[in-house]
Amino acid sequence: MRFAVLVSGTGSNLQALLEAQERGEIDPANIALVVSNRPNVPALARANRFSVPARVVDHTQFSSRTAFETELGNVVRGHGIQAVVLAGFMRILTETFVSQFPNRILNTHPALCPAFPGIHAPKQALDHGVKVTGCTVHFVDAGVDTGPIVLQECVVIEQDDTPESLHKRIQSVEHRLLPEAVQLLADGKLIVDGRRVRQS
Ligand code: GRF
Repeated sequence: MRFAVLVSGTGSNLQALLEAQERGEIDPANIALVVSNRPNVPALARANRFSVPARVVDHTQFSSRTAFETELGNVVRGHGIQAVVLAGFMRILTETFVSQFPNRILNTHPALCPAFPGIHAPKQALDHGVKVTGCTVHFVDAGVDTGPIVLQECVVIEQDDTPESLHKRIQSVEHRLLPEAVQLLADGKLIVDGRRVRQS
């Protein structure tokens, strides 16, 4: 199954996927394309280091969200992509793009969905005073971090955590869960039944 990974910045989750692929851990998934909505981000350099084709579709160059997503869809489909991973991709996607890959787009969110959707989830968790947060890998629908949940894992909050220290511990979990979800999807082992995702 040919995957595109959409990124906007650092790309540590992309790196985790590429390393897992190099170790042969996510077969039969093939990370075949990286697309960034921002030029010159570290994630693009990571794609280059692993010799994965990388493209930029700069959202600031489009007059509307629909025009941006139409071009994004064209680029992705032009590379024969069958599934998509959002790995720190900081644009909300609407039906224009999402409807092209039903139950074929995965996102990683640094909180236990449905808690703390949107950006700054680790800060939201600390501000709320929860004792446990975590990471969620879910299918993407047209909402914000609302799609059916594939994998979730807890991260315990420590007394002296800052948003940064907490996010770092959550990311080390993401780096394990995201490749696992990609492999499950590529293996055809994820069955979506309404909101529930079962593994066959
Ligand atoms: C991740 O923590 C992800 O959950 C969130 O953005 C962060 C991206 O990190 N959506 P990176 O670019 O993969 O390092």
